[in-house]
Amino acid sequence: MSELFDLSGRVALVTGGGRGIGRAIAVELATAGAAVVPAARSTDEIETVAETIDDDGGDALAVPADVTDPDDVTNAIAAAEDAFGPVDVVVNNAGFNPDDALGRPEDVPAESFDRVLGVNLDGAYEVTTAAADSLLESDGGSVINVASVGGLVGLPRQHPYVASKHGLVGLTKSVALDWAPDVRVNAIAPGYVSTELTEDLEANEELRRSILDRTPLGRFADPEEIAGPAVFLASDAASYVTGAVLAADGGWTAR
Ligand SMILES: NC(=O)c1ccc[n+]([C@@H]2O[C@H](COP(=O)([O-])OP(=O)(O)OC[C@H]3O[C@@H](n4cnc5c(N)ncnc54)[C@H](OP(=O)(O)O)[C@@H]3O)[C@@H](O)[C@H]2O)c1
Repeated sequence: MSELFDLSGRVALVTGGGRGIGRAIAVELATAGAAVVPAARSTDEIETVAETIDDDGGDALAVPADVTDPDDVTNAIAAAEDAFGPVDVVVNNAGFNPDDALGRPEDVPAESFDRVLGVNLDGAYEVTTAAADSLLESDGGSVINVASVGGLVGLPRQHPYVASKHGLVGLTKSVALDWAPDVRVNAIAPGYVSTELTEDLEANEELRRSILDRTPLGRFADPEEIAGPAVFLASDAASYVTGAVLAADGGWTAR
């Protein structure tokens, strides 16, 4: 691998690193040489990811954490620092889009809106600020926020998710300004990726077809296809990239 993409000696915290996109990012960051801390609520899932990385000769530590719990977040960063040293890379990937937050604005309960914002936006804010000392101390600090095409355009019947992801894009740009030149802060905007989050969408033939018809590459992405952009943004290959939103959407937003 080109030295540009080499993450040896770096320490990466990946929230939601137990399955789906976060799992793929955790594994690929480790393959590029980083010590990786997958953090999520499902202990069995993050432990399996850490074992996979260990079995492949990498370094990993699973740390159970809910990104909406400040104590969990502080503990996850402290555990990463104790195990491997200051955190150089934070991947804010934890996110969800529950059924009770889908619908017209007048029909979705306010608490559903708050819960989505609480994980997708406040959670990322919490982790980023809690890791600030570590990141600013690092020689090559990088924050990667996993947003969505829903952070770039509106989507019908998903206003909580879309508001959270637009907020995350705003947070990305603003923190990028405040932390330049010390820490680069970027976002990835995935399109439709085959994970647990999109299982119902993919199972609904009519919805699946309408998504594929709008996607120039004509398919859903595999989670690994979001991991490549994350490795790039974490690495020196992206040394002049900050405040950017990288769409990994099969061309969905090019229309
Ligand atoms: N799949 C797509 O098409 C797609 C498209 C655009 C953007 N995205 C974004 O990509 C990210 C990952 O999505 P995915 O498709 O991989 O979903 P997923 O398979 O459902 O995985 C979500 C991950 O987030 C974790 N998580 C959820 N709430 C959490 C919390 N409060 N604290 C800590 N971890 C939490 C989950 O673990 P626990 O439940 O164990 O905590 C899980 O590891 C999300 O931010 C999503 O919005 C996905």
